[in-house]
Formats: sequence, C-alpha cells, structure tokens
Amino acid sequence: IPVDDFDLVIFGATGDLAHRKIIPGLFRRFVAGQIPDTAQIIGAARTNQGDEEFRSEAAKSIVEFGGVDKSDPELARFLPLLGYVPIDAKGTGGWKDLKSRMRKGAIHAFYFSVAPSLFGDIAERLAKNGIADAQSRIVVEKPFGRDLESARALNKMLAQYFVEEQIYRIDHYLGKETVQNLMAVRFANILFEPLWNAQYIDHVQITVAETVGVAGRGSYYDKSGAIRDMVQNHMMQLLCLIAMEPPYHFDPDAVRDEKLKVIRALEPVSATEIVRGQYQADEESDGYLVDSENPDSRTESYVAMKVRISNWRWQGTPFYLRTGKKLRARTSEIAITFKEPPHSIFEDAGTSGAPKANELVIRLQPNEGMNLKVMIKEPGPGGMRLVQVPLDMTFADALGPEGADMPDAYERLIMDVIRGNQTLFMRGDEVEAAWAWTDPIINAWDESKTRPEPYDSGSSGPEEALRLMHRDNRRWREIR
Ligand code: BG6
Repeated sequence: IPVDDFDLVIFGATGDLAHRKIIPGLFRRFVAGQIPDTAQIIGAARTNQGDEEFRSEAAKSIVEFGGVDKSDPELARFLPLLGYVPIDAKGTGGWKDLKSRMRKGAIHAFYFSVAPSLFGDIAERLAKNGIADAQSRIVVEKPFGRDLESARALNKMLAQYFVEEQIYRIDHYLGKETVQNLMAVRFANILFEPLWNAQYIDHVQITVAETVGVAGRGSYYDKSGAIRDMVQNHMMQLLCLIAMEPPYHFDPDAVRDEKLKVIRALEPVSATEIVRGQYQADEESDGYLVDSENPDSRTESYVAMKVRISNWRWQGTPFYLRTGKKLRARTSEIAITFKEPPHSIFEDAGTSGAPKANELVIRLQPNEGMNLKVMIKEPGPGGMRLVQVPLDMTFADALGPEGADMPDAYERLIMDVIRGNQTLFMRGDEVEAAWAWTDPIINAWDESKTRPEPYDSGSSGPEEALRLMHRDNRRWREIR
C-alpha cells in the first residue's frame, strides 16, 4: 500500500547507517511501489556537496549494499527523489535552504542519524526555524542515552520541541519480520497462549550470537559493551514480546503499555547470575583488546545472564539471555522449554529414552522459522519406544518466494514513520525503564575490580556461562 507524499530529511546522510541501511531500504520500498514519485528524500550533513554528488554516492550505496545492478532503470527513476543540503548542526548554515525545500501538504519526517550529542542542536533548529511543525515526525537512533539519567535528559530535551506522538525511537529489532512474528505466533493462535506461563514453561533462552568482532567501531563499542549495545535495547525488546500479557489491541500504546509492565517487573540481576566475556585473539584475527584499541579494557563483548520476571505469569520461570561478538555462528533465536508431562504412562518406554520436554524454538535469523519438538513413537515392533522429532517450519518454505523475501527492518520502520504508526517504536518511559533496570548491573560491574572472562573467537562464549546454566541443571542450546 503506497504511503502519502512525504519529505524525509536524513541528518547524518553521509554516514554509515544512511548508506548501508536507510537509502538502500528506501530504494527497495520505492521499487515495491510504496513511495510516490513526488516524495523528497533530502540528505543533510556537514559535507559541502550538491544534489548530484549526493545522488551519485547514494547510487553507489544502493548498488553495494542493496545488491542492485548499476544499470537498473529503477535506480534512474529513484535518484531524482534525492536532494542534499549542507547543514551546520550547531550553527546557522543551511537551515534556510532546508526550510525552502520542505513542501506544504507533504508529511515531514526528520531522521536523526547522528551522534546523540547533536539531537538537541538539531531539534532546536528545526523548531526555531519553523521547519518542523506539530505534524512533523522525528526519528532517533540508538543509543538513546547511556544510562537512566542521560536518557531522561534526552527525553526532556526532545519534549521541549516535540510531543511523544511525534518521536519515533528506533530499535531496529522491532522492524525484523520474525520479531513481529513473535506477536503473531503468540496472539493469533490459541495453541500457545494457554501454556505460556510458569506452570508449563520451564525456562526461556534468548540468544543473539554474532560472528563479527568490534574492529572498526571499537571506540564506540568500548564505551558501551554488550549490555548497553544489545541487552538494554534489542534483547529487552525480545524479552518483552515473549513475556508480555496480550495487549487488548495491536495498537501503539496498548502494546507498549504491556512491554513496559514486563520491564518494570524485572528483578535486579545479582553479580552471581551474570557472566561477562571478552574474545581473545586467534591466528586470523586480533582479540578484543586490540579491536577496541584499549589494552586495559574491562568492557564485555559477551554477556550471559539469568533474568527473573516478578509477576504472576512468570514466577519461577527464568529467562536466560546471552549475546556476544566473535561467536561460533551468527544466529538469533528464542527457545522455550516446556515442562515435562506431570506423569509418564510410558515407564517402560525402552532405551530410546524417557519423554523429553517439548521445546519451541523461534529462529529470528538466519533461516527464519519455527521448530517445535514433540515426542512420538519410534516406528518398529520393539514396543513403545519414544523419540523426539522436530515439527520444523522455515517461513521461506512455508510461504514460498514471498516468504524468502524479507524486507530489511529499516524499510518497514521508515514506512511506519511516514504512516504515523508508532507500534514498533519505543516510548520514552519504556526506554527509561530499561535503563533503570540495566543501570545497577552496569554500576555494580564498574565498581567491582573483576575482568571479563576470556573466550576463544569462534567458540560459544566463556566456560563460566555454561556453569550459569549447569547450576540450575539446564544447558544452553548449541550455537550453530
Ligand atoms: C546494533 C549493534 O544495534 O545491532 C551492533 O550496535 C550489532 O553491535 C547489531 O551488531 C546487530 O544487528 P543485526 O540486525 O545484525 O542482528
């Protein structure tokens, strides 16, 4: 469905995110017929260049990151939508020019793809120069603060110029098709919800494993670490979608209210229930201390933790979270391990093993899909022998070619901004609640003198993380 005509201004348009994700994403939506030919996409950054130079840079990015052929006629149709205004975020240069380009009657959206330290300068200039009005939308990227205090300050600052309904805080995980699917699976089927509680679920594992290290972005990453970079935002969102109560409607505030309740119900994590790791060098690549350009760094490139949610639904069911760089495989998944049946009628089930707990694995990436492990009888005359088999569904297989063609998270989210739909964006109170929970974890670590556990590149993380599970008589799923 095409969106209404819009002017989208991308601050930081010469940056990495704009070129890797935002511009190629907009191109794909254009090709899909969702963006009208009249729309304007205006790059704004410090670099002094004109429309043509920006278009040619954008074309290169679309070819490189969008896998598009240089001679694709759609590219030639798309480029005229792009324009560029050199702008001084902290000064006066460029703002008049920008204002003159904005059209009356079109939706105005401003994407802050810049360091958070510039959010205030840009917001202020948009408001004071009369470029943004009460209908305008602003999009802000993570990191949204680095603790509760700074997030509050950011929210307060933005609130001087914009109301909450105008502010779109991006967590790109919410734009991933399979992450949205978590809600569809839970709330569009009757099958799972009756079992979705501590009575039937033994524990939940959420894994976001990456193979990349932090080389090239070490100076940013070293000030964040896995907790700020992944847990406070992406992992927290996954946790919320798995744990929340059914919203009364698929509506921005209804969904976000329920997520907020989960965050507020999180118990503090004690030092004994969290493991931090740092990847080591191997023959092919440097270790974290080199990549981060900080030989003394205590920042974690891996974290595993046991999280408890203090409410009726989840009393007694732990959620184990882990995420890290330079692990064995790139894989993100949520695994829900159910409890064993209360009574086995198959006491003499033979040597194939006693009943095993059902497990539902939702694979977020790659090979997006679901896998439900169920027990069946092993074929053969040897008596009632049980075996666990997967009911496996890869969305691409189930849905055909359309299922394989998953739009990138940014495509979806930018179109939602234009449509004015905030469901997949974080509300200010949600971000603050997430920091309120992560702050004590980070502070306790800062105060302790301990160092992260070393782990080998290409492994599944530090040994210590295995013990976190073993202590509870549970095991991590293999990362592969
Ligand atoms: C980003 C983090 O927000 O998410 C990165 O800053 C991380 O460190 C990335 O690599 C992971 O996103 P995806 O979409 O590749 O899973």
